[in-house]
Amino acid sequence: MKGQEIKQPSHIAIIMDGNGRWAKARGLPRTEGHRVGAERVRDIVYACLEMGVKNLTIYAFSKENWKRPRREVSGIMGLARFFFKRFFDELKKEGVFFVHLGDTEGLSPGILKIIRNMEENNAAERKLYLSIAFNYSGRSEITQAVREIASLVERGDIEVGDITQELVSEHLYSADLPDPDLLIRTGGEHRVSNFLLWQIAYSELWVTDTLWPDFSKQTLLEAIDEYHRRERRFGGL
Ligand code: IPE
Ligand code: IPE
Ligand code: MG
Repeated sequence: MKGQEIKQPSHIAIIMDGNGRWAKARGLPRTEGHRVGAERVRDIVYACLEMGVKNLTIYAFSKENWKRPRREVSGIMGLARFFFKRFFDELKKEGVFFVHLGDTEGLSPGILKIIRNMEENNAAERKLYLSIAFNYSGRSEITQAVREIASLVERGDIEVGDITQELVSEHLYSADLPDPDLLIRTGGEHRVSNFLLWQIAYSELWVTDTLWPDFSKQTLLEAIDEYHRRERRFGGL
């Protein structure tokens, strides 16, 4: 082992779960849990900047989450608009480059306009890629990639034999991102809930009972600590 330099995971992905339970335990509406959860996102972005983590991907709203009561969904949409407007300029100054992962179809024109604006006016200096999975479904992402690749074949641009894992990766929303090294799930459930299905093939998983609004830099450090103790073999010995 040379030196004691600690190599931070270059990509951390987080399933931010437990906002509703956090609110319920306090007799508050679920939306209040989402509001406090959004503040935690800002804290964790700063923690990643400090530690030199290059990529942070957060699961903010799944395509399955549309099944929730209309009031909760519109509360989340309102908070997303508020979060993007309030923090985009601030985080951009810190070198945070914003990426949207997910379908545009289904999102309101208002939110789409904000997302477009962030994509077009992104940070020049890219200290941290903040990817927000919003209106995201891992299976939809893969299906959409399959469709794009099939149409390349149909047009005669490529042959079936040209379809490689790299090509599939390039047609995902996450095309320019490395795969996550560490996948954190808060709220205690041991499942992936349709998040980054292709990309997490060899990610280290870490589940905590901590509910997302209670997540802190300390919790993140615990996860990273555990990550450093893991032995990643990628199928080798
Ligand atoms: C995660 O918290 C945030 C979203 C899914 C938008 P939940 O809202 O799922 O909170 P719990 O799991 O019900 O506590
Ligand atoms: C996963 O949480 C989605 C997000 C964190 C955005 P859910 O609360 O939707 O997941 P399930 O329903 O427990 O699988
Ligand atoms: Mg949940």
